[in-house]
Amino acid sequence: MNHLLSIEELSREQIEKIVDLGCELKKDRKASPQVLTGQQWALIFSKSSTRTRVSFEVGIRELGGSVMFLSSADIQLGRGEPIKDTARVMGRMIHGAVIRTFAQQDVVDFAQYSGIPTINALTDDEHPCQVIADLQTIKERLGGWQGKRLCFLGDGDCNMARSWIWASVHLGFELVIGAPKAFQPQESFMQRVPSGTIRIVDDPAEAVRGCDVVYTDVWVSMGKEAESADRIETLKPWQINSELLKHANQGAIVMHCLPAYRGKEITDEVMEAHADVIFEQAENRLHAQKAIIVEITRKS
Ligand code: CP
Ligand code: NVA
Repeated sequence: MNHLLSIEELSREQIEKIVDLGCELKKDRKASPQVLTGQQWALIFSKSSTRTRVSFEVGIRELGGSVMFLSSADIQLGRGEPIKDTARVMGRMIHGAVIRTFAQQDVVDFAQYSGIPTINALTDDEHPCQVIADLQTIKERLGGWQGKRLCFLGDGDCNMARSWIWASVHLGFELVIGAPKAFQPQESFMQRVPSGTIRIVDDPAEAVRGCDVVYTDVWVSMGKEAESADRIETLKPWQINSELLKHANQGAIVMHCLPAYRGKEITDEVMEAHADVIFEQAENRLHAQKAIIVEITRKS
C-alpha cells in the first residue's frame, strides 16, 4: 500500500489495521514514530479546508517531516499546468503529497506520475481520510461497527456517502442511505457496488429507524454552490432534528464530518447535544491520518 486514493480500493484488513494504529497513536502524541525524518511533504489544495489542512500539517510534523501548503491558486496548476507535469516536477523534490481537488482522476494521475506516496484529502468522488477517522470514532464510542446500523442522510450521492458505501462493502456493517430520489447514489456508481450491500430509503423516519449512528454532511458540497437554493429546498425534510432522532435506537450517536450548517442539515440543538462525538471526529483526523502516513510509507 503506497497511496491512499479511495476507500473503494482498500481491503477490510487494511482499513482495520489503519484504524487500530490510529487508536494506538492517539494514546501518546509525543511518542509518534519519526517515520518522516528528513522528508518534505506538500499539501496541494484546490478547495477550502480547515480540519484536513491543520490535521495534516500537524500530523506530518509530529511524524518528523516538514510540510508546505500549496493552494492551487498560487501554483501553475491553477493556471492550467497539467496534473501529470506538476506531479513529475514534485516527485523529483518532495517525498509525499496530500491532494484536495475535484476529479478523482487527478489524484490517481498524481500518484502515478509523481511516484511518491499520495493521499486523497477529498475529491468529488471520495473523502477516505474522513471515513477512516470516523471509523476510529465509532470504535471508541460503540466498541466497533460489527452488527451496527449507520444511516447517512441528505446528499446520498456526495463524496462522503460514496466513501461510506465502500466502507460498508468492505467491513460488512449495515448502511442505509436516506435521501430523496434526486440525491440518491447514481445508477452508474451503484453498478460498481455489490448488489444487496446497502439499502436506499426515501423516507427520513424509515431511514433512521433502528440506527446506532445517524450521519450527515453539508447539503451543498464544495463545487455545487450554483445549486444551493434547489438543494436546500429539496433536502429540507432530511434535517437531523430531535423529532427525527426519536426514530433512531436508544443511545444512537449523531455524526457530522463538518463544517456544519446549523438550521440546514442539522439543528443547533442536536449539534450541541452531540458535540462531544462530532468534535472527536475532527480530532481523530489527526490520529487517523498519521496512521495512514505510517502505513503508506512503511518499507516492506
Ligand atoms: N471534514 C473536513 O474535511 O473538513 P475541512 O473541509 O475543514 O478540511
Ligand atoms: N461533501 C463535503 C465534505 C466536506 C468535508 C464537500 O465535498 O464539500
